Amino acid sequence: MKNLDNYKIENKKVLFRADLNVPVVEGVIKNISRIIAVKSSIKKLISNKNKIFLISHFGRPKGKFVDKFSLNFIIKSLKEVLEIDKLYFLKNLNKDNINQTSNEMKSGEVCLIENIRFQKEEENIDLNFAKNLSSLFDVYVNDAFSASHRNHTSITGFAKFLPAVAGNNLVKEINSINFFLQNLKKPNIAIIGGSKISTKIKLLNNLIEKFNTIAIGGAMANTFLLANKINISKSLVEENLIIDALNIQQKAKKLNCKLILPVDVVCANKIQDNNPVYCKIEEIPSGLKILDLGEITTKLINEEIIKSRMVLWNGPVGAFEYKPYDKSTNEIAKTIKLNSKKLNIETLAGGGDTVSAIHNTNTESGFTYISNSGGAFLEWLEGNESPGVIALKENKFN
Ligand code: 3PG
Repeated sequence: MKNLDNYKIENKKVLFRADLNVPVVEGVIKNISRIIAVKSSIKKLISNKNKIFLISHFGRPKGKFVDKFSLNFIIKSLKEVLEIDKLYFLKNLNKDNINQTSNEMKSGEVCLIENIRFQKEEENIDLNFAKNLSSLFDVYVNDAFSASHRNHTSITGFAKFLPAVAGNNLVKEINSINFFLQNLKKPNIAIIGGSKISTKIKLLNNLIEKFNTIAIGGAMANTFLLANKINISKSLVEENLIIDALNIQQKAKKLNCKLILPVDVVCANKIQDNNPVYCKIEEIPSGLKILDLGEITTKLINEEIIKSRMVLWNGPVGAFEYKPYDKSTNEIAKTIKLNSKKLNIETLAGGGDTVSAIHNTNTESGFTYISNSGGAFLEWLEGNESPGVIALKENKFN
């Protein structure tokens, strides 16, 4: 795979795929780690006098212009992070516009292209579109590992028509996650949370073979509880996946992997209610929803973390965006921060919400590596190589 160390890009027109799909709440960027992630590659391309055209998606506008998904809002932060005074912004992705902007740009300048998902050709993987656009550039760089699990035109298409090079962030993500997975030390624990078990069945099946202990939290744990005939009242659940939950439990038992499921929880009428009810799982009051793990379960997980040599974390274990249902997620982050260095525990975390929870608790320093990827991180952990990475590896152009 070509990368920015083994492949020189100088005085070229570069089509650069970033993932600027940052978390935004009420117009405010909550975390800029995805912007920081692409800084080193862009800086290198700037210093090598290239003209850099940044491509990214933001949200899911489904092939048409939707004002709230414009990338306009990110210009200020991008300029700050990249420490540049000028950033071109290309609203219309047609040949004349690109050529005109490119002629205006000086070597070492950067242009941000409007949300690529406004183009209907992006998600439909349109090779004609990729070919036409590629003809206006010299080289393609993919630094968006977090979007590389998507078989979209800007991820796999351009690599068919241009020399395709892995950016520093993409290389770092792959190397860090692979290093962790290929050097597993026992005892170890995987903490898997999030709302839907449907998105994590494959992951759980894969991790059971590699981890001594798996702690399951978040709304996805409810499906396990229901499968074990616990009355979960009005809690979020995927009833159609009860058999899958039972199969996972059975496989874990067979392979000697301890599953930690909630034994106590925090419930409420609705997520906005600041009126938490603590209870054992056998005593969930009718009409309430489980919104967080209880103290006993959180303690069980934290004790297991302290005994481990490696910790993998993907997915918050409660409704962490809403106080006070962020408690167990925050406690886990703090336990990792307090103990990982002292006890030499290697820790890998990833997933958008997990990264936000770590950021909220200011516990970044407790982690060996925090991936800025969500779905791509998950699929990589499942053992699938991302289409974007395959496209880079198979690229035939010099
Ligand atoms: C992410 O946030 O995980 C990536 O930017 C991919 O976004 P998507 O799930 O909308 O494809």
